[in-house]
Amino acid sequence: AAIIALLDPYDRKDIIEKMAAAGVSSFAMELMPRISRAQSMDVLSSQSNLAGYRAVLDAAHEFGRIYPMMMTAAGTLPPARVVIVGAGVAGLQAIATAKRLGAVVSAFDVRPAVKEQVQSLGGTFIEVEDDAADGETAGGYAKEMSDEYKAKQAAKLKEVLAKTDIVITTALIPGRPAPEIVTADMVAGMKPGSVIIDLAAERGGNVAGAKLGETVVTDNGVKIIGPENITSSVATDATAMYAKNLLNFITLSVDKEKGTLAFNAEDQIIAETMLTRDGKVVHPKFGGEEVANG
Ligand code: NAI
Repeated sequence: AAIIALLDPYDRKDIIEKMAAAGVSSFAMELMPRISRAQSMDVLSSQSNLAGYRAVLDAAHEFGRIYPMMMTAAGTLPPARVVIVGAGVAGLQAIATAKRLGAVVSAFDVRPAVKEQVQSLGGTFIEVEDDAADGETAGGYAKEMSDEYKAKQAAKLKEVLAKTDIVITTALIPGRPAPEIVTADMVAGMKPGSVIIDLAAERGGNVAGAKLGETVVTDNGVKIIGPENITSSVATDATAMYAKNLLNFITLSVDKEKGTLAFNAEDQIIAETMLTRDGKVVHPKFGGEEVANG
């Protein structure tokens, strides 16, 4: 049998051993390589897109004010100021959604490559001046930053967050706990009524004081929300996209003449997602030594 799913391999090494022992071929969709050919199978992307969108709507619901500027006979309402921390797939979708709702949006990321993407969506890129800062790995993901960089980032962010109404954090580093970026000190400097949504809460959180599945209200009146499985609140679309991702992955491995599954371990997509096969752990990141073809 084969198991093709989100298997949480970094945190569930016990399951990997069990699948090997049971002789099951298993594939972790989190490990999908970021190559053009695999885009249609990229589960993290499809779900992140929906998470970023939904987080903006959830924040709007919790916020006691509106997003757009309104100039009316009864007075002028200023636009909400939204900051997105982590401008990957979820962050970019959050920028686009908040922008469409009329907010003034800025975003921050350790990968300078995203600056243009943020600007093309109408957001302002928050820059941290650091000569050595390029937080991008060859695979397109973020890496852990130096202590010096983190200190500069913290100073800049504290200044920006004091003027911000809504913060959505999405920063992840594959295989590690999420970096803590918004500290208790920064939250203490925010205005009462501000809302923070920590989309990284499931991986430990980007925000000090965030609790998974809960809304915490701080002493200075800031709401910190740590959503759990946020895509389940848009379940129909999340399921449709996830199913399409899996279908595209399985289609790659169907032997059309025999009508059976045949996984080609020489294909990068298979090699990088396959955890176990023939009773063994085969993925080098999880203790496997070699990938047998067949
Ligand atoms: P992710 O979910 O791993 O992380 C979210 C964002 O947080 C990233 O942009 C990351 O740089 C940022 N981040 C990490 N640590 C941070 C820190 N300390 N401070 C601020 N920001 C921090 O990343 P995601 O959304 O999965 O995408 C990563 C990249 O991969 C993107 O450039 C995306 O466009 C690209 N990509 C490529 C695909 C392909 O070619 N098939 C498919 C999907 C994404």
